[in-house]
Amino acid sequence: MTTRYRVEYALKTHRRDQLIEWIKGLLAVPFVLHSQPTAVYQEDSEKLAGVASDTHQRYAEIFRDVEGLLNDHIEHESTKAAGKSKLRLLVPPVGTFFTKLYLEEAFKYQDQQRHISRRRFVAPSFNDVRLILNSSQLLGLVRTRGLNLVTFDGDVTLYDDGACLAPDNPVISRIIRLLRQDIRVGIVTAAGYTEAAKYYERLKGLLDVMYSSTELTDEQRSGLIIMGGESNYLFRYDPSSPHKLTYVPREDWILEDMKAWEEDDITNLLDIAESSLRACVKNLNLPVSVLRKDRAVGVYPEKQGQLHREQLEETVLVVQNTVERSSVGSRLPFCAFNGGNDVFVDIGDKSWGVRACQHYFKNIDASRTLHVGDQFLSAGANDFKARLASTTAWIASPAETVQLLDELHSIQKTLV
Ligand code: IMP
Ligand code: MG
Repeated sequence: MTTRYRVEYALKTHRRDQLIEWIKGLLAVPFVLHSQPTAVYQEDSEKLAGVASDTHQRYAEIFRDVEGLLNDHIEHESTKAAGKSKLRLLVPPVGTFFTKLYLEEAFKYQDQQRHISRRRFVAPSFNDVRLILNSSQLLGLVRTRGLNLVTFDGDVTLYDDGACLAPDNPVISRIIRLLRQDIRVGIVTAAGYTEAAKYYERLKGLLDVMYSSTELTDEQRSGLIIMGGESNYLFRYDPSSPHKLTYVPREDWILEDMKAWEEDDITNLLDIAESSLRACVKNLNLPVSVLRKDRAVGVYPEKQGQLHREQLEETVLVVQNTVERSSVGSRLPFCAFNGGNDVFVDIGDKSWGVRACQHYFKNIDASRTLHVGDQFLSAGANDFKARLASTTAWIASPAETVQLLDELHSIQKTLV
């Protein structure tokens, strides 16, 4: 039994978000006790409305209590007594929150959108809680100190996996709106290229609209940067360049701590990662090619969809484990992740990428920064590390990113 439990634990915890699972567990109780899944034909609409309002009340109370625990956690962290946080006792992996989260209000908003408390057969789900957390974070950002920087992941967040930002992508007008509000924008992607032409190819839709827009000032245009390879290559918007982007030399933007990353260590870490990837290719008979770059190494198949989830996950966990256990793995930050169709190991991670963007824009604070991404599981996911550097929103598709930015806009309007 113990062995089975431990195996399950080791294999599954990284696929669950502990805070979300815990909140789901709390909501399951009123769901079971109040939602009354009786036969639909026996009910009149008045009775249904009564049940829903009762359930809504109970869910709202839970979110109010969790919000209280979060405030207490923030308080303890700020007084360097994080160990005394009750939330940390209940959910040990819980991290740092850079702003308050308005959970009760966010629940009421999402309940209007998703009719969570009207459901009698489907309990509050992972996605319900994820979206409530996102809404509460937007409220927290706008009401705490305001928003100065939004960083976006690329694949799945701005465009479909492996696709490009096409001119008709609805996210473009939302990004322009942020820039017009003098909010800075960084695209912090794992896609690591050293040439501006490659990023232009991926982001052409946005860069062309920025170029021809009459709504933006030059200062606002300079508020767009691209951070590639997680935290390795910085490009800034530049209308005079043929690809509308200019490479910013590393010495102009790297953080103090990044100066200690030795070239020998980088090569050494990538060598270890590469041989571990090659061993997986052999062992699992993966139909892939190995790609080695100066700051990354990865495997990718010829066509989309050739690798199944289990192959991708096994590979990422093996490589992560191998590099972690090496001595260079403890000196140098790296990020092994499942890109949905490929597996990559990059030097650095998105916490460094987001921090470098904050630094580039003259030290924007974590509490004024939002990172939007789709990969927030604790292993094999590359947006997860951004939680160390900024507030975050976890989206599941490019359409959700658009919704999130529209929600942000309506919250901003209520403040004016
Ligand atoms: P993201 O979702 O924007 O972070 O992009 C991740 C995807 O970029 C990966 O799944 C790869 O397909 C692709 N990619 C291209 N070059 C690199 C690299 O150097 N490191 C990691 N991923 C890369
Ligand atoms: Mg992504």
